[in-house]
Amino acid sequence: MTEFSVDEVVKLMNIYGKLAIAVAVAFVLLQFVRPGIPTKPTRAEVEAPPGVRDILENSCYSCHSDQRRLSWFDQIVPGYWLVRHDVLTAREHLNFSTLGSKPPAMQKATLYEAANVIQLGAMPLPRFLALHPDSRVTPDELATLKGYLAPWTSSPNPPASAPVGVNAKSPTSAAAVAGSTPPPVSLATAQQEFDGFPLDPAFEGWKPISFTDRGDNNTFRFVLGNDIALKAAQSGKISPWPDGARFAKIAWQQELGPDGLLLPGEFVQVELMLKDAKQYRNTDGWGWGRWRGLELKPYGNDARFVNECTGCHLPVGGNDYVYTLPITTAHVPGDEIVNNEAAALPANLPYQPLAWSAITMYVDPNAHTMSTLYGDGAAMQTVNARGTPSTATPVYLPGSVLALVTWVQRDDPHWFGARIPAVPESVEFVQVAAANKTSDYRRFTRRNLTPEQLTAAEEAKRVSFILGLPPARLP
Ligand code: HEC
Ligand code: HEC
Repeated sequence: MTEFSVDEVVKLMNIYGKLAIAVAVAFVLLQFVRPGIPTKPTRAEVEAPPGVRDILENSCYSCHSDQRRLSWFDQIVPGYWLVRHDVLTAREHLNFSTLGSKPPAMQKATLYEAANVIQLGAMPLPRFLALHPDSRVTPDELATLKGYLAPWTSSPNPPASAPVGVNAKSPTSAAAVAGSTPPPVSLATAQQEFDGFPLDPAFEGWKPISFTDRGDNNTFRFVLGNDIALKAAQSGKISPWPDGARFAKIAWQQELGPDGLLLPGEFVQVELMLKDAKQYRNTDGWGWGRWRGLELKPYGNDARFVNECTGCHLPVGGNDYVYTLPITTAHVPGDEIVNNEAAALPANLPYQPLAWSAITMYVDPNAHTMSTLYGDGAAMQTVNARGTPSTATPVYLPGSVLALVTWVQRDDPHWFGARIPAVPESVEFVQVAAANKTSDYRRFTRRNLTPEQLTAAEEAKRVSFILGLPPARLP
């Protein structure tokens, strides 16, 4: 042990004392390095009932409004610099003081997004909550916000001039804006996204991993995955997803069809994600792109478009930024339940349609069920044949097999406003016969999906219904 003499101790105290004074002076001086946070009078505040607005004001306006609502301790440099950075970034993403100038449907879509980021624990920013516990949104407050948004409208046909909601920051399909239908472009010649991310024309051949019924903006979505994504889903290795995994999400407007069913109508857009942890490390490990309308117009007007994608996928960062719960029985290690095992089909069926391609889907709003029509390879040859108008009844090749899988619906645990398949309720197979022959029909229902016999008349009705379903329209 070193022994200090009194003199040495005094000397040290002098040094440390001077240092402490220097630090204190620097601290005080730094307080003057204080770039501003601009404030403005509220121009067009979000339209919402007072109860809802109070919640946003209390928990979100510190960052997402033009008002300045900082606590005294937020004003102390260097903490102030961090807070300022958060506020400016937050306003760029979402500003409740100006949101009121947007069409009502877009405001509502933003409130759905708000409810979802709160529900997923992403907002208010956790680092902000640690110092401002009063900003936490209580379960009651979240219920108030959801109560205002729900029950979501069942109106399947929003007026053509209204935005398609959440994913549409520009008005609905460019077709509606232009007033006439622009010529569809071929998949192979569609332009790349603003940042160079290409539209992979192979996406239409990828296989479905799930479907969503989006009540918040009245759309249906297919979520398709390439082989790498499917293999990962089947083996449960989805946290993280492997490099090379690709997803496509295809969206259609919901349209009221016969018997009160909701069917896919106008094609809205296709979105792609491509996993490459290295190449896309600046955008959460994924490449992102969106192409709107049958003319497949790239969505981005500048490089910032990706912030919208990553911003809204951020709350599922723990699931490698993927929202969809793939329909698979694979065990996925980790705390979070990220697959949809309940919707899988038993192995005793004559075919395994979940491995086939999807032709279309529909929802029965009264029965709270959703159905997907799958086709085997032969059936898909008919569907993929170009040139046939999509509304025409397809003429399937003899021997093709179609499967109509019907699930009970449940709320998507990752997105308030969406519904996804829960337990399967029935599976119907139609084997298409040659001309003038009747097609073979088999039906499996109830728990365990056991065979069920229908009368000949009932069977004929189901067969003509299934064969008559128009394929969802693709570019
Ligand atoms: C401390 C500041 C802060 C508070 C408080 C806060 N946010 Fe945020 N918010 C941010 C920042 C920063 C981002 C951008 C995150 C990113 O993508 O890097 C953001 C992003 C968002 C987004 C994504 C927007 C988009 O389009 O990318 C939503 C939605 C959102 N916040 C909602 C809320 C809601 C709702 C509340 C209140 C319950 C809230 N935020 C409170 C800072 C804040
Ligand atoms: C407002 C929130 C929001 C924004 C913005 C958003 N997404 Fe998503 N995305 C979702 C939700 C929710 C799902 C789950 C499927 C569904 O319900 O539509 C999803 C699913 C996807 C999927 C299927 C894989 C998965 O994660 O489940 C792709 C691909 C995708 N989004 C691409 C994009 C791209 C590209 C952009 C930006 C151009 C984007 N998303 C912007 C909310 C958003």
